[in-house]
Amino acid sequence: MSGARTEAAAGNGRMAQLVGWIDERFPLTSLIREHATEYYAARNFNTWYVFGVLAMVVLVIQLVTGIFLTMNYKPSAEDAFASVEYIMRDVQWGWLIRYMHSTGASAFFIVVYLHMFRAMLYGSYKNPRELLWLIGMTIYLALMAEGFFGYLLPWGQMSYWGAQVIVSLFGAVPAIGADLVEWIRGDYFISDITLNRFFAFHVVAVPLVLVMLVVMHIMALHETGSLNPDGIEIKQHKDSRGIPLDGIAFHPYYTAKDLVAIVIFLALFAAVVFFAPEMGGYFLEHANFEPASMLKTPEHIAPVWYFTPFYAILRSVPSKGWGAFLMVAAIVLLFFMPWLDRCRVKSIRYRGWTYKLALGVFAVSFVALGYLGLQPATEKVYVYAARVFSALYFAFFLLMPFYTRAEKTRPVPERVAYHAGK
Ligand code: HEM
Repeated sequence: MSGARTEAAAGNGRMAQLVGWIDERFPLTSLIREHATEYYAARNFNTWYVFGVLAMVVLVIQLVTGIFLTMNYKPSAEDAFASVEYIMRDVQWGWLIRYMHSTGASAFFIVVYLHMFRAMLYGSYKNPRELLWLIGMTIYLALMAEGFFGYLLPWGQMSYWGAQVIVSLFGAVPAIGADLVEWIRGDYFISDITLNRFFAFHVVAVPLVLVMLVVMHIMALHETGSLNPDGIEIKQHKDSRGIPLDGIAFHPYYTAKDLVAIVIFLALFAAVVFFAPEMGGYFLEHANFEPASMLKTPEHIAPVWYFTPFYAILRSVPSKGWGAFLMVAAIVLLFFMPWLDRCRVKSIRYRGWTYKLALGVFAVSFVALGYLGLQPATEKVYVYAARVFSALYFAFFLLMPFYTRAEKTRPVPERVAYHAGK
């Protein structure tokens, strides 16, 4: 017994020696302290606070499955479609890797949309976290670019015609439009050349940018500290050792809590991968099981669900130029949230009814536009509905400086209140 104890002590001693050796050459212990064991987060995080970690989990899933897909995928117009079929049928576990990657793409957007909505609920984008929000928005742009480039790779009908629609939108840029479209495609039509460059962006350039941005995002977060559902800055009340009174160490408390969320998420993720990988055509569109043909336009072209709110805005305007402008504006406006919102109170718990109503209308409009973007544009009623919801979407942002300034708020408590289950 005492022999085992001596052995354990010797093992610990060797471990401490190794850590000491590393610490003299690399700030390992101080990094762990600063970002985990001595990073203090408010004790009242709720479920909305798990989506950042889940986004990191999905990022890892996408990077790992992406590497394995690239081992068997062929980025040429001649071979791309067949190489995906080969992955699905002949490569060992290829079907699993591919379904994890395609499901991961949709999961990424579900998680990120919920993560962004959390920021809107609790005012996480406000002073002093404006830069954190801007980095987040840049991640969102990079994510959209990643999804768009990746969608061309299977070289199915929807890959081809979806890219055709989106690339041709650049034609709406005054004066240089036509040249710009040709420059992006590298050809007079979407071709093998276009596929090759989209592959380079999807596999190398954008993932690199994404990973760098996520590191910056976490650095910015740890500089200001996380906010919380009460919208109270916990750094304003510290004990004699400088530890926030309402804070708890990220590790072990939130690592343990996040692990529960990760397990639940992975169970749901596996359920989709194994039982409904196409998700009724929402995650993998039916038309994409046919090889791309430049001679045959699909009856109904719709992007994947995560782009459809913006696609609905584009289609709701008869002029292509104005449609493209409004589609871009719908995304750009999100960047300005920290300055459009004039209310001093951060959390929706203590804000007035105007913001609650406006945020509700915004959420309904976004989901409705997402639905309408999936419907055929031939039905007039869908186009009119898309106009109404587009108007509400823009009203949320453009009227924000007015309705948030006049807002009647409730007093915010000095210290964090714990609301069980909220
Ligand atoms: C790959 C995508 C992303 C990853 C991996 C990521 C990761 C994280 C993590 C781990 C946190 C801390 C935990 C949490 O509060 O949930 C966080 C916080 C935050 N993120 Fe992200 N994020 C991503 C995308 C975005 C986007 C697109 C936005 C907004 C446009 C955004 C805005 C924020 C804000 C404002 C916070 C601070 C929340 C607070 O302290 O209340 N993030 N992010």
